Amino acid sequence: MGHSAAVWDYKVANEITQDWNGNPQVVLRNPHGALVRVSLHGGQVMSWKNEHGEELLFTSNKALFKPPKAMRGGIPICFPQFGNRGSLEQHGFARNKVWSIEESPPPLPPNDSNGKSYVDLILKPSSEDLKFWPHSFEYRLRVALGIDGRLSLISRIRNVNGKPFTFSFAYHTYMSVSDISEVRIEGLETLDYLDNLSQKERRTEQGDALTFENEVDRVYLSCPNAIAVIDHGKKRTFVIRKEGLPDVVVWNPWDKKSKAMVDLGDEEYKYMLCVDGAAVENPITLKPGEEWMGRLELLVVPSSFCSDHLDLHKAYF
Ligand code: BG6
Repeated sequence: MGHSAAVWDYKVANEITQDWNGNPQVVLRNPHGALVRVSLHGGQVMSWKNEHGEELLFTSNKALFKPPKAMRGGIPICFPQFGNRGSLEQHGFARNKVWSIEESPPPLPPNDSNGKSYVDLILKPSSEDLKFWPHSFEYRLRVALGIDGRLSLISRIRNVNGKPFTFSFAYHTYMSVSDISEVRIEGLETLDYLDNLSQKERRTEQGDALTFENEVDRVYLSCPNAIAVIDHGKKRTFVIRKEGLPDVVVWNPWDKKSKAMVDLGDEEYKYMLCVDGAAVENPITLKPGEEWMGRLELLVVPSSFCSDHLDLHKAYF
């Protein structure tokens, strides 16, 4: 392999440390001091800091850093299912597996590498995994940090099986917010959603924007490719852009569920909101040799900048 800029970025700029369990953790940095930590346990983004050192993702103070469960926070990957159907574990096994670094994956477009600090990971099923989900796949994940601090995740899932398989998927993104009562989501208004709190009943969003006063556990369907999570308390906006991921999961457990969860503090629901780019309603089917790609990009901007300058409807990627 030649000495391309991409190879240089990965080999020289990325630091590899160890996580709580001795698994490698890759630290991506940009020249302005922004930082991303990715654990090989689950391929999970554990931390995303802006250039001022502020953490942008939520991690519970009671998170259990103990495999085989995913740590409560960051961005666990839900594959090959989102939810808990059938015999597969809740949200699939990918978040509980140890991934490997892949030094020379099949290339991505130059914009996914140029000027970015990134790492490429790969997950393949072990013979034990195949007993529970008998489908051979190669799951390639690129996590990249841009010069402006944006975080992108690109998943490529390939069927290397003799027969088709089907999966659902989500980037289970725990955002850190000032106070859930100060947060609103724009981009989901008037959409239909499946309400996980009422046996997945299909409903239609009525308000101008989504705000939070109670537990929410919904899958919004056929969403636009950009939505905004506006945090009035911190005066900042998460801009979420996605591709290949038609649905958006919105989850906040509120007080009762938080109390029932061992790895979430009783009051911590106030400081988190999960907004996931996902493919849930219509699972993806891959024929032998086919590949699916799902991209998520997260950017944090001052709220005033967002309303003045951001056009959520413009095509982005
Ligand atoms: C959400 C689901 O996305 O994830 C919830 O909609 C679920 O129903 C939550 O409780 C957390 O799941 P887990 O397995 O990480 O505790």
